[in-house]
Amino acid sequence: LRRVRVHHLRQAKERGERVTMLTAYDAPTARILDDAGTDVLLVGDSVGDNVLGHTTTIPVTVDDMVHHTRAVAGAVRRALVVADLPFGSYEASPEQAHATAVRLMKEGGAHAVKFEGGRRVAEHVRLLTSSGIPVMGHVGFTPQSENVLGGKRVQARGDDAAQRLTEDAVALQDAGAFAVVLEMVPAPAAARVTEVLAVPTIGIGAGPDCDGQVLVWTDMAGLTDWSPRFAKRYAEIGATLGAAARAYNEDVRSRTFPSDAHSFAE
Ligand code: KIV
Ligand code: NA
Repeated sequence: LRRVRVHHLRQAKERGERVTMLTAYDAPTARILDDAGTDVLLVGDSVGDNVLGHTTTIPVTVDDMVHHTRAVAGAVRRALVVADLPFGSYEASPEQAHATAVRLMKEGGAHAVKFEGGRRVAEHVRLLTSSGIPVMGHVGFTPQSENVLGGKRVQARGDDAAQRLTEDAVALQDAGAFAVVLEMVPAPAAARVTEVLAVPTIGIGAGPDCDGQVLVWTDMAGLTDWSPRFAKRYAEIGATLGAAARAYNEDVRSRTFPSDAHSFAE
């Protein structure tokens, strides 16, 4: 089983093959998603609102990210494991980004990191890639800047904004990024960036023409009763888990479980 490495993603784009990516936050889920052939597993700062009970990604700490990255990286055999730099852990300087990324690789076992922003973080990308840390970019809607962007809204609407999106993505590529996530942008704007870049674009709410696709796994698998419009639910894991717990509770209360079959004889 050959590990997915960053150069495989660029090769995939050259061959017209798509890149699949899902988030993962723990070992058993990572193992399942890896065995299913997912190319990239992202330990997203979306762990905050999907697993840790926060309403946004803002409170997520570097310690949180190290903890969840270690769980995922230890379980994966094939996928490329990418870890997010959380809010407040990289923006101030390229050196701050480097220190955080080193922790995610050394302590967490990440193979690469991702952080939000275009031209404003190009120097951060340059320092990390020249230090042996592969970087995935993330532009369009960037959840850590939700309070500046005025909420969860589609970005890069209109020709000027689409042009700025392209320039941001090109700046990340030129600084050494091996791929760029495009989140919540109009499909034509994402198609344009995809055409211009040599490295793969990975879309989420960015239409059908990106080189790859990412979803938050709990949205993809239907763990919660709500998913964003751009997500497709491939299962109803939440409903399945609820039914299992109801059946278990019923069995215990009715003394159906445990039976002799689940007991030790003398
Ligand atoms: O944290 C996350 O899940 C992400 C993806 C949506 C790209 O950054
Ligand atoms: Na993220």
